[in-house]
Amino acid sequence: MSVDLVVSSPPYNLGKEYESKVALEKYLSEQEKVLAECCRVLKPTGSIFWQVGAFADSGLLIPLDVRYFPMLERLGMIPRNRIIWARQHGLHASRKFSCRHETILWFTKGDAYKFNLDTIRVPQKWQNKKHFRGDRRGELSCNPDGKNPGDIWMFRNVKHNHEEQTIHPCQFPEDMIARILMSTTDESDVVLDPYMGTGTVAVVAKDHNRHFVGAELDPEYHKAAMQRLSGLPDEKGCFPNLKTLRDYVEKTGEPIGKFRFAVQVGSKPTDRSLAKIYPESHHLQEMEERIQYEEAAFAADLRGHERPVDEKLNGGAPKRAKKTATVDNRLF
Ligand SMILES: C[S@@+](CC[C@H](N)C(=O)[O-])C[C@H]1O[C@@H](n2cnc3c(N)ncnc32)[C@H](O)[C@@H]1O
Repeated sequence: MSVDLVVSSPPYNLGKEYESKVALEKYLSEQEKVLAECCRVLKPTGSIFWQVGAFADSGLLIPLDVRYFPMLERLGMIPRNRIIWARQHGLHASRKFSCRHETILWFTKGDAYKFNLDTIRVPQKWQNKKHFRGDRRGELSCNPDGKNPGDIWMFRNVKHNHEEQTIHPCQFPEDMIARILMSTTDESDVVLDPYMGTGTVAVVAKDHNRHFVGAELDPEYHKAAMQRLSGLPDEKGCFPNLKTLRDYVEKTGEPIGKFRFAVQVGSKPTDRSLAKIYPESHHLQEMEERIQYEEAAFAADLRGHERPVDEKLNGGAPKRAKKTATVDNRLF
């Protein structure tokens, strides 16, 4: 038992086969063997974070976490959280609500698990709120260091306009992994990702002084992971993603135009001050604003009010006729 934390997203490319129940069951029984090994190497204080999505085909929904949950329980693991990873983008469904979340299951091996809440607090909404009566009158009523971030997480999925994007189609955002690593491990702890892709967990482990072990089947992804970890350009001056390139030029002072990155589309990369490809913090802010705007627009529609204006709407706000709110009394 040598590992403090397992954090991974397994492959679920069951392809067309997954429609068949047999293929799904086969996939899950293979996964149970991998998870059994992960649990075996985990220290008694250790945790597993297993991130999975849902499949849909011909209207049939298979939320994979629902199948993994009993599997982890069978392995003697103890459930702590079912985290919803909400995102703003994805396929648009026409006969049901578009899927805009994936899940991260957190299980621990025992009750003496690590959870360093203070390392990952986020600002309180009412930072200066005080008790207004009683013995603690005048004292802050909330923790000035911030609050628990909760189990609904908003991190942008890493796609073309995200500076972390590598050649991998389904990368973890680094900040999301940092939240997991910082809260459930200490410096020098060992983190395992059995399906490491282009190495997001490894990169975050390195950034936060944790040791890392991992496995990846695809040699190209593995090479990109190694390059991200080295932080250096390859022999052709190419980096695995824009973030690694920007970090490198910020550190060395070399001109950014001298280099390329693997998924580059434009003629030359831009530094962060001129960003058209953004860091996670930008996406988070944008997503929050967008969700708030969508809610406000829907509330206005329901009540027959003018929709609020979102200056950032592409092509300007569509003109919607002002409706008069109507109430269908048959509903009451
Ligand atoms: C969902 S991706 C993980 C991506 C990763 N979290 C990242 O941020 O880059 C799953 C990865 O598992 C790899 N994989 C599939 N089967 C594997 C196996 N048997 N052993 C190791 N890696 C495997 C795939 O090549 C793929 O890169």
